[in-house]
Amino acid sequence: MTLDSFSQRRHGRAVFATMAPDDRAAIGTVHDDLRAAGYDETGIRALSGIPLLDLHPAAFHHLDRHVLGTDPLSAAIRLFLLDRAVAEQAVRSFLSGPSLDVLLSLGVLRRADDGFRSQVHITCVDGFLLATDTGRYSGWWTGADDLGDRVMYAGYDSVGLAGIAPRDRVGRTLDLCSGSGIQSLVASRYSEEVVGVDINPRAIRFARFNAALNGIENATFVLGDLLGPVSGQEYDRVVSNPPFVPEVPGERHLHYRDGGPDGERLLARIVSGAGQILAPGGLMSLTTDLFNLDDLPRRIGEWLGARDGFDVLVLVERRLPLWAYADTHASHAPTTTERTAYAARMVDALDDAGIDSIHTGYIVVRRQPGDRPRPGDVRTVGIAGSVTRPAGSHVTDHFRFLDFLDRDVDGDADGVLRPNPAVSLVTTVKPAGPATHRLVAPEDDYLADVEISDLTKKLWEAAASSDVRWSVIRGSALGPVAEELVRQGALTLRES
Ligand SMILES: C[S@@+](CC[C@H](N)C(=O)[O-])C[C@H]1O[C@@H](n2cnc3c(N)ncnc32)[C@H](O)[C@@H]1O
Repeated sequence: MTLDSFSQRRHGRAVFATMAPDDRAAIGTVHDDLRAAGYDETGIRALSGIPLLDLHPAAFHHLDRHVLGTDPLSAAIRLFLLDRAVAEQAVRSFLSGPSLDVLLSLGVLRRADDGFRSQVHITCVDGFLLATDTGRYSGWWTGADDLGDRVMYAGYDSVGLAGIAPRDRVGRTLDLCSGSGIQSLVASRYSEEVVGVDINPRAIRFARFNAALNGIENATFVLGDLLGPVSGQEYDRVVSNPPFVPEVPGERHLHYRDGGPDGERLLARIVSGAGQILAPGGLMSLTTDLFNLDDLPRRIGEWLGARDGFDVLVLVERRLPLWAYADTHASHAPTTTERTAYAARMVDALDDAGIDSIHTGYIVVRRQPGDRPRPGDVRTVGIAGSVTRPAGSHVTDHFRFLDFLDRDVDGDADGVLRPNPAVSLVTTVKPAGPATHRLVAPEDDYLADVEISDLTKKLWEAAASSDVRWSVIRGSALGPVAEELVRQGALTLRES
């Protein structure tokens, strides 16, 4: 029994099933009430001491009993994040009458003996409030229910994709596999129009609620299979967080998680569609686990059908040992024995799929601007770590630099090189041996620390102290060094 049919049977309605356009105003009051109680990323972190992305059931009891108080924000956290029943008086301390009524009528809240309980989590991401299904860490192993239609929580992959996708102003953005709508909400800020597509009707309802909750009017959500509902249309941006976890034979299916035996069933279909769906110059940003990284550029080329006309940027976050990856996906198991057994089945499934390395990361595909396709540039870059803040300007700079190099073929383009202000040079002097130099950017989620040579250090220092023109160094030994530093994001090139 799916979550929808379960709540239909148990509570007489599925969450958000009755939502009507007239509910928008009352849904807006829920937003205002939560904000007035201080319910945002900063407020929740300050009170709980835990970043929202790391909130875990192991902390729920401690927070409930020993950290939270009797104030309205504590009541809201208990109700919408900790799966606790909250007394009516405490709920009314932060929700007005119209908010409470609309949440009851939409099936978000239900009366429990001891007050109210919420059927959904409401989290905060990038300044938005976001409703998702509860039970991130539970339920799948215990109940007889089919949880295949569960709407995914905001995970590091969700927040990371929102951070990696460039945010310069564009016309139309497509969010494939939109789930809760998190990518669409973020894209609504930089796009004139956003369309989200998901195959799960429950996810479509959550996304519509989330748009209403945040007062967003330029995002629509359509039920369907990947590009099916939007065929024949072109978009400036595509963002996608598809299901990418390799399936373990015989285990229950989760729409949001399972990416076929090799994890790439949806990824391959989405990348294959880049030529149809991207407008010239358009960008497709995806988050996925990167399997067998060395061979990935070849597979991407195969999915695209041609290397000409597309540039590809693969961003590699971190490598996960296969057993640790399997163990993470087994962490819902109620006992250590079941957890170990599930992880073992997953390790075998990974081996059967020919997977021998896993990295977390992102793939960005650009359809080249103009109508004369040139051979594609494929670049794999190691990035600093978990992206939790906007970092898409680095992606934009990368493709802008490719266009610059393209124009520079005949020596026609020029510009000034400058250090990225987020980057510092650190020199370490050791008692024995030569000094080493590193470029570091501790405040930037994207720029990984790099060790640099003496020659690179000289270029860096020259660019920091005076104007270094591209046209002066392009043909010298410093040309390739400068190109590498710009591609790494340590130097910026201001075209002139
Ligand atoms: C990993 S979740 C991503 C949710 C959200 N975009 C995010 O970033 O958190 C993947 C989503 O893909 C949807 N999905 C799975 N197969 C699909 C398909 N063939 N077409 C469209 N959506 C699909 C699932 O229902 C789920 O909502």
